[in-house]
Amino acid sequence: MSDAVVETEGGFVANYPPFGVWSDANVDVALAALDRPPAPGVPLGLYVHVPFCRKRCKFCYFKVYTETPSAEIRAYVEGVTAEAKMMGSKACIGGRQLDYVYVGGGTPSFLSSDQIRELFGAIRGSFNVAPNAEITFECEPGTVRAPKIEALRDLGVTRVSLGVESWDERVLEINGRAHEAKHIEPAYALCRELGIPQVNIDLVAGLVAESEETWAYAIEKTIELSPDSVTIYQMEIPRNSAVWRAMHGQGDLGGTIVDIPTRRRWAREAFEALMAAGYSMTSGYTAVKGDPKDRFIYRDRLWHGADMIPLGVSSFGQVSGVHMQNDKSLQSYLETIGRGELALQRAYAMSPDEQLIRELILQVKLGEVSLSYFQNKFGVDLRVRFGSVLAELARRDMLRVESDRVVLTWDGLLRVDHWLADFFLPEHGGRVGPGGAIGERPTL
Ligand SMILES: C[S@@+](CC[C@H](N)C(=O)[O-])C[C@H]1O[C@@H](n2cnc3c(N)ncnc32)[C@H](O)[C@@H]1O
Ligand code: SF4
Repeated sequence: MSDAVVETEGGFVANYPPFGVWSDANVDVALAALDRPPAPGVPLGLYVHVPFCRKRCKFCYFKVYTETPSAEIRAYVEGVTAEAKMMGSKACIGGRQLDYVYVGGGTPSFLSSDQIRELFGAIRGSFNVAPNAEITFECEPGTVRAPKIEALRDLGVTRVSLGVESWDERVLEINGRAHEAKHIEPAYALCRELGIPQVNIDLVAGLVAESEETWAYAIEKTIELSPDSVTIYQMEIPRNSAVWRAMHGQGDLGGTIVDIPTRRRWAREAFEALMAAGYSMTSGYTAVKGDPKDRFIYRDRLWHGADMIPLGVSSFGQVSGVHMQNDKSLQSYLETIGRGELALQRAYAMSPDEQLIRELILQVKLGEVSLSYFQNKFGVDLRVRFGSVLAELARRDMLRVESDRVVLTWDGLLRVDHWLADFFLPEHGGRVGPGGAIGERPTL
């Protein structure tokens, strides 16, 4: 283990084109997309953002609010209810059922059981949720109580994702987590006993003060619980986090951070241990127990071009090829919704080429890409369009091109976010010219 303080090589790639090119000037285009009937056969889902947390973790980059007065939380649930009504009546819904619903945060389990029921009343009252839809709800272990989990089960939640992050008391405390190690097992047990169909555990490889020993213990304890899936993120140090500030002289870091190769090795060791215990990898971040088919519908639909309606402050989605994101300020989000208007703040209409690149970079994260999928959907042979990039990545041993597939190597998969931008268009910091020629990456 190195005790050097080292930052990340490049952040988690969540979407394409990058958020930086989405603009308020395109909000009308997004509103027009919502008012158009959908293209046939495109699946639809919903993302609901709950921005409240008990404490702000020192590593977290999400937009969250802490110490929020309860009246404001009630107002938020009412705001999301009003927004759901507006969205649910849009032409883009076009009679479609929701295949997936993802309630993420922040900490959705921060809400009370009554607020959770109200939220689901709003979702089911405004949208037609498919009977077999995947419904995910993120929970922080210290907020899990029996009545909440009963409510989630009764409301049809199929997947609870528990933010465990580390199993070491000191590591949790130093990183500012609100939960303690003793909360993890009871929270997991409640989900199981009360009949939540799938439980996922999130871990972060490389939190401040995590050591070889504490990480090995985290893997051992996680496997002992036998969750349906385990998601492992490699620690990122975003500029808006307390960890970043402490590394730059503002405040005490409280411990050491291992370097990037160690974080990557820890993630790899965790995945290898999970595979030895019967799990299989379904992306560079997730291992699933048993048969992985249809186990994370949200990710699979979204990464194959599904539409997704965004609800809640700073929430983002896409409809008919147009990206859109809601207002990032809680106050102005609520004010706009209160006036009976949608609170979209920025948007971006993708060209067909950008839609292809978006799906490509997201599907690359799965570890395997089907060439015929892109040929059939976009009429494009990836080996021609991205020939030079694929050849260079193959030379660097990140991937190999087989008959109908691009397959990532172990190393390629574990550092995927560091090279995905090679597929971006030059104006987005990438290197692919119109004919597939590879050039120098410009400095943005
Ligand atoms: C919205 S949180 C999950 C729910 C809940 N807020 C919680 O933390 O328990 C999503 C996940 O992002 C991951 N995450 C947050 N900040 C991160 C960072 N700086 N580096 C890597 N992963 C991070 C954590 O694993 C966290 O569980
Ligand atoms: S990691 Fe989860 S609990 Fe911590 S601040 Fe971020 S969203 Fe909140």
